[in-house]
Parts: sequence; C-alpha cells; structure tokens
Amino acid sequence: MTALNKYIQDNLPRFVEELIELLKIPSVSADSSHNADTARCAEAVRQSLLKAGCTHAEICPTPGHPIVYAEKIVDPALPTILTYGHYDVQPPDPLELWTSGPFEPVVKDDKIYARGSCDDKGQVFMHVKALESMLANGGLPCNVKFMIEGEEEVGSNNLGAFLRENKEKLKADIVLVSDTSMISMDTPSIETGLRGLAYMEVEVTGPNRDLHSGVYGGAVGNPITILAKMIASMHDENNHITIPGFYDDVLILSEAERVELNKAPFSLEEYKKDLNIDEVWGEKGYTTLERTGVRPTLELNGIWGGYTGEGAKTVLPSKASAKISMRLVPHQKSGQIAKLFREHFEKIAPPYVKVKVTEHHGGEPVVTPTDGIAYRAAAMAIEESFGKKPVPTRGGGSIPIVALFEEVLGLKTVLMGFGLDSDNIHSPNEHYGVLNFRKGIETIPLFFKNYSQLKSNNPS
Ligand code: BES
Ligand code: MN
Ligand code: MN
Repeated sequence: MTALNKYIQDNLPRFVEELIELLKIPSVSADSSHNADTARCAEAVRQSLLKAGCTHAEICPTPGHPIVYAEKIVDPALPTILTYGHYDVQPPDPLELWTSGPFEPVVKDDKIYARGSCDDKGQVFMHVKALESMLANGGLPCNVKFMIEGEEEVGSNNLGAFLRENKEKLKADIVLVSDTSMISMDTPSIETGLRGLAYMEVEVTGPNRDLHSGVYGGAVGNPITILAKMIASMHDENNHITIPGFYDDVLILSEAERVELNKAPFSLEEYKKDLNIDEVWGEKGYTTLERTGVRPTLELNGIWGGYTGEGAKTVLPSKASAKISMRLVPHQKSGQIAKLFREHFEKIAPPYVKVKVTEHHGGEPVVTPTDGIAYRAAAMAIEESFGKKPVPTRGGGSIPIVALFEEVLGLKTVLMGFGLDSDNIHSPNEHYGVLNFRKGIETIPLFFKNYSQLKSNNPS
C-alpha cells in the first residue's frame, strides 16, 4: 500500500466524522428560511479547505447564496486543476419517509445516511480530504483551485456572472467535478455527458373563485381536468413529445454511436426489479440507456390544485398548477425550448381557461471529450484504484454550470463522480457508501498525478 493510501486508511474514521459535521448543516438552497444555515455551511467549507492546506480561501457573496473559492498554488508554471462542486442540498421532504433525520447523519451498513451525503457534500469533501492527504504525503503535483457553490440545486443562477467577473482568478487547465454517478463499484464508469434543462411552471385558471362542485360542476371548465388533458396531450401514443419544433435541433446519433452507447453494462431486469415496476416506459424506438442518455424528455415534477386535505370537500377549484421540466440534449437550447413550450401551452389552452407560464431555471447540455488527456488521466486513475477500466456512459442528470465552463472560461470538464444511482439523491434516505467516499479520496490524487504527467508531455 502506498504511504498516501495508508494515510487515507488511517484517517478515514476522522474524515467521516468531519463529513458528518458538514452534513448536519441544513443548507437547503431552495428554502429561504435556511439562508443562515446555507451561509454557515459555506463558512464550514471554507474552514475545511484552509485546514486541508489551501493558502487562501474566501467567501464570495452573490445576490443569492455565496460561493466558496480557495486555492493552493505550488508553482505557477505547473498545470492547475479547478475543482467544482456544490454545498447546497435539495429539500429533504417527504420527511416521514426517512428512517433517520436528514440532517442527523448516521453510518449504517457502511453507508452515510443524510441529505447531501452523496449530492454533493460527500463528493466535495473527498476533494478536501484528497488535498489534505496529498499535502501530508509528498505534496501536490500541480496547482489546485476550488469553486464550491451554494446554488446548484436551484439552477446556479448567479454562477455565470461570477465566472465572467473572475476569469483571471479561475484560470486553470481543466475542471474536475465529482457530482455524478458510476454504474457500480464493480463496474466503474465515467459520465461523458450531461443533459440540459428547461424548467417551467404553469397555472391554469378557470372561474374567478372556488365553486361548489354540485352547484356549478358540469357547467364550468374544471382547471384540474383541463390541466390534466393539456399535460396528457404533450406526449403522443409513441411517447414522443408533441411540442412543435421540440426535436428540431436534437443531435441524432449514428448507428455506430448507438451500438457503442448500448454496450454499457445494463440489465433491464435488474432495473425494473430495483424500481418495483413491471415494465419500463419511454420514447418508442429507443433503449432505456438512450432514453436517459441521448434523448430529450418532458417530465411532470409536481401537480396541485383543489382540495388535498383530509376527508372530502366538494369543490370546483379556481386554479390548478404544475411544475414541468424538460431534459435537453445537444444541440437543443434551453431558451428556445422554453419559448416553444410557452407558445404551445398557450395555444392548446381551451377558451374556458386562462393560462400563465413562468420559466424557472435552465441549463445547456454538454458532452465531455473522451479523446483528451483529462479523460485519459481520469480513466487511468480509476483503473488504478478500482482495478478495472472505466466504461464511458451518458448520464441523464444536469449540472447547469458545466456548459459555461467551456463557454466563459474555455475549459473542458471531467466528470469523475463516485455516486451510485441507488444512493437516493433528491429522495428520502439519501446515502453514500463509506467505500465510495474512500475510493474517491484515493482516486483524486491519482488523477492529479496522471494529469500533471500527461500535461507536461503534451503541453498545449
Ligand atoms: N448532481 C446532480 C446531477 C447529476 C446526478 C448528474 C446524477 C448525473 C448523475 C445535480 O446536483 C442535480 O441534481 N442537478 C439538477 C439540476 C438543477 C438545475 C436542479 C438535476 O439534474 O435535476
Ligand atoms: Mn449535485
Ligand atoms: Mn442534485
């Protein structure tokens, strides 16, 4: 065992304890009643980076939640890795489905249970502890900068401006992100793409007030019924999305690319079993891997209206609403898709209701290169620590800022994530394997070493 891995092994219990302290802070970015917690979490991340050996760490205020920036520059002539992650978390509800408190972390069956344990505090903390471990065992082979934000889970709305205003400070050779998942610990993989996102909210209004559903029912359009029909009409019988122009810019994969993508290890039987569904659903003509990796979607995230309390109340509600997200693939543009959605939704509204469409956040899809030295450095690092070559996969999730790293900073990104799809991110009982955490801490220094070596052999 290398001295570095011995250090990681010996200190792992303390690393987990320290992560647990971070996980106790309910940094829910979507909920403003947690603003003080979110700020406290930023400060805790800053302190952890200083403790790990950064020579500079600061809190950068934004109109929303603050960004933590830190660095350790060993030699300006060496390459620089910019590590990105987020310390904000998703709301923990529904609380009653958690077996332990979302912000009362516990280690059970070698997994750390808490909101944010995998997405993304646990993965950010691997980088903090990898830095500490490298510095305690011979030092860093290159420079490192950290940008850990507090608004990823609400669309990173203020991070684009931060990139534009801090190009010099953020100067680097590559962005390294651990905020994605692997197929399994036995089948390590690297995500090579993220989907974009256009997130909308719609409100359908019928009569000017809630009505008695007996006195008026049958004679006045019910906004819930109408919203349900409008939503249902947005997929056709083949589960294609019916918004005109929606697919116009979708990059169609070649047959060879499709064959390659479907080579990734995947068992439909296990997938169904894990989710307790008898059959999968999706766009006709595509496999499950294609449906989540390279095809766009339209999903309902929430729907409400009328009476949902205990017992029965006879009411014909005045309003019904829904939150709808569309996942996008190259070369769809979130602004254009939001516009097409709005025009379509307004057009299909029948005359007995009024509709209001509002836009939440958006983000652009990305594909990360597999032919550059950064991917090679990550693949070699994973092969060394997992004993197996990683499989490239196309992930279905979104990290809105990644497209802007390229656009604003001219930087490519490597998505070296160590989560598993079964970690319940965004869901009750989110957890992160202690082994995943440890493997991550071991793999990051290997990436640093490989990248620095490859970079010095291939300066560009
Ligand atoms: N870490 C996730 C994205 C992710 C998860 C990518 C798993 C690949 C595999 C990230 O925190 C996230 O949840 N992003 C949001 C987008 C955001 C704008 C709310 C998402 O994908 O829904
Ligand atoms: Mn995340
Ligand atoms: Mn997330």
